[in-house]
Amino acid sequence: MEFSSSWALLVMASLAALAFLSKLLLFKSHQLKFPPGPKPWPIIGNLDLIGSHPPQSLHKLAQKYGPIMQLKFGSFPVVVASSAEMAKEFLKTHDHVFASRPKTAAGKYTAYNYHNITWSPYGPYWRQGRKIFLSELFSSKQLESYQYIRVEEMRAFLSRLCILSGKPVMLKDHLFRLTLSIISRIALGKKYVSDDSKYETSIVRSEEFQEMLDELFLLNAVFNIGDWIPWLDFLDMQGYVKRMKGLRKKFDRFLDRVFDEHKAKKEGGNDLMPKDTVDLLLQLADDPNNDVKLTYDCIKALTQDLIAGGTDTSATVIEWAMSELVKQPHLIKKANEELDRVIGRERWVEEKDIPQLPYIDAIMKETMRKHPVAGLLVPHLAIQDCDVAGYKIRKGTRVFINTWSIGRDPSIWDAPEEFQPGRFLGKDIDVKGQNFELLPFGSGRRMCPGYSLGRKVVSSTLANMLHGFNWKLPDNMKCEELSMDEVYGLTTCRKFPLVAMMEPRLSLHLY
Ligand code: HEM
Repeated sequence: MEFSSSWALLVMASLAALAFLSKLLLFKSHQLKFPPGPKPWPIIGNLDLIGSHPPQSLHKLAQKYGPIMQLKFGSFPVVVASSAEMAKEFLKTHDHVFASRPKTAAGKYTAYNYHNITWSPYGPYWRQGRKIFLSELFSSKQLESYQYIRVEEMRAFLSRLCILSGKPVMLKDHLFRLTLSIISRIALGKKYVSDDSKYETSIVRSEEFQEMLDELFLLNAVFNIGDWIPWLDFLDMQGYVKRMKGLRKKFDRFLDRVFDEHKAKKEGGNDLMPKDTVDLLLQLADDPNNDVKLTYDCIKALTQDLIAGGTDTSATVIEWAMSELVKQPHLIKKANEELDRVIGRERWVEEKDIPQLPYIDAIMKETMRKHPVAGLLVPHLAIQDCDVAGYKIRKGTRVFINTWSIGRDPSIWDAPEEFQPGRFLGKDIDVKGQNFELLPFGSGRRMCPGYSLGRKVVSSTLANMLHGFNWKLPDNMKCEELSMDEVYGLTTCRKFPLVAMMEPRLSLHLY
């Protein structure tokens, strides 16, 4: 009797404690609010507040609602982080929750049903793809083994510029040709794209391929209504899905030819060692030990990811850097002083010289601060509910990290609208994803896997362009007339391409 009454007491006490605890928890979760933000309209949500430059529109909204704000784009909640602290919350503290990507028409139609790395959801396929890229392509050993390609293509680029000295030159075309040649030789084994229509091994002409890539970048960054209001998807009101399907056909034709050639070479020869990324991926596709099967479409998607990631990004950064520099010739003078002192006038800059060129490094960082290639990074997706900085974030929320806004935060940067590379000298701020005030390559699980290649290409190209030539704007143009307007896309590039003039600076036998 005594035993059973104390047993009953114990049960009652436990029930009371449980009730109290659940009330406490319930109270806590009720206390958590969604981040502040504008009131959404029915159907469109807050899409009416987003202009043609979404990072800028969101930057303005953040001035009112703060560094973490919630909006609604069509049917989906969207959270925007606009400060270094908030970026750290999403990309470091809660990185595992926000490491996925939303499903978009671009991922479906231009990335072989989400089978590239950029658009694939967080999971085994993405993990395997990244592992292949990081170990087989971007490890220090592999990067070293492809250095000769970067050197050869850089020299060819500098010689092409030299031939054009004294004439106005549209820089982006030349930069695009350089970065495309480098990544094509690494990934595809040779340059399949040529300016010369007689070049027998080329599959598409350079301008046509640039158009394909421009279209790819644009379509991967558009605000496609069907992505945000799914019940309107079937209408394809802006015609983007039609364009995506057309683009996929063009990439299919290109990649089919590349793969056919690789397979024919493999079947014909005895040498089974992979020579380039496509060889390697084709070999992995036949590998029964793979965690996740790599189909033909997967290989196409991964190859396309490399070509897209490796070309426009680096070319865009260099074009922005040169635009800022020709506007302020005294900065070019400062870079030249460093180059003359460290390198001298009798040779080109080599990749191993870069650590001895802090001012060139500072120019690169300042360019990436003021003109981040991906002003909102690539959208992240919450795979579960999560509390961030005292706010409730629901599973399925799309997250944008506004690096464009963070680069203009006056509490971090003095005179943020001014281009002042000197601000980085002697400062311990890098672009490796550890300093959340400067995230040109992102941070955490989804950080750019091509970071080291991109960085090498940008700094050595910039260093050699400044070392090899005196730069100025065309004769009829004043520095203050050069527009710095941006066009938003997956890479944010110049609205008006830079046209500049150059004269050789080094002994002519070097060109
Ligand atoms: C200056 C050059 C480059 C810049 C500024 C850059 C920037 C970025 C950024 C901001 C992201 C998104 C990070 C995020 O979502 O949080 C990204 C992702 C990515 N980048 Fe780059 N990138 C560059 C060069 C490259 C190169 C050379 C390659 C490959 C050849 C590459 C391949 C990729 C891929 C595959 C992803 C998707 C990663 C994932 O979703 O897991 N990038 N890059």
